[in-house]
Amino acid sequence: MGERVAALLLADRLRPGRPLGLATGRTMEPVYAALARRLGRLEPALAAQVRQGWCSFNLDEYVGLGPQDPASFAATMARQLVEPLGLDPGRVRLPDGLACDPDGEARRYGAAVAAAGGIGLQLLGLGLNGHVGFNEPPAGAAVACRCLALSDHTRRQNAGAFGGDPGAVPRRAITLGMAEILAARRVLLVVTGGAKAAILRRALGEPPTPDLPASWLQHHPALTVIADAEAMG
Ligand code: GLP
Repeated sequence: MGERVAALLLADRLRPGRPLGLATGRTMEPVYAALARRLGRLEPALAAQVRQGWCSFNLDEYVGLGPQDPASFAATMARQLVEPLGLDPGRVRLPDGLACDPDGEARRYGAAVAAAGGIGLQLLGLGLNGHVGFNEPPAGAAVACRCLALSDHTRRQNAGAFGGDPGAVPRRAITLGMAEILAARRVLLVVTGGAKAAILRRALGEPPTPDLPASWLQHHPALTVIADAEAMG
């Protein structure tokens, strides 16, 4: 599963095109590990081409956490992607969780994505409550990049990176909105594990609704879903 997704990401990076949209989370760990292995096996000139042309925007970041904090998505990307692939950190962009004006930072980040031409291939995981990025329910299809409050559900889901303490998970995050995600040329939704089977089935099978933000993906003209047998139920 990780191998298949990594192959698609690498194929995207071998062709110069729009920026890659990246996600964090446990689902993505094997994907980035496989990507590093694949890049290591490429002919050196091709690997150099991938590194030099790299351009990615992550979906989201916690407000109040900077790259020095190991639980930040910036630190996660440094560990899982920038270092193993030997990338220039400036080419792997995320919202600045330490910006003193998070609302302004969200506007700046959304504008940076637009200025780069929008996302080409968007990699997405699925939250247990149906969020994508940090678009917590309710989220309409038109909501743009913004700073928002995280639900208690999500803070519990992500507590593992904070010593298991949901209270230590930041209360707010900056996320690309459904608008930027749905504007991506292609979307790759990756879902693993039986815990996500029910929400995946609803997201793909029920009429799209703000109460289940991932359900808007049904409207995307180029959606690929990669799920393991457990997530398929
Ligand atoms: C997190 C992230 C999402 C991620 C999702 C699933 O909260 N903001 O981008 O896709 O939840 O995470 P995991 O892969 O750990 O289940």
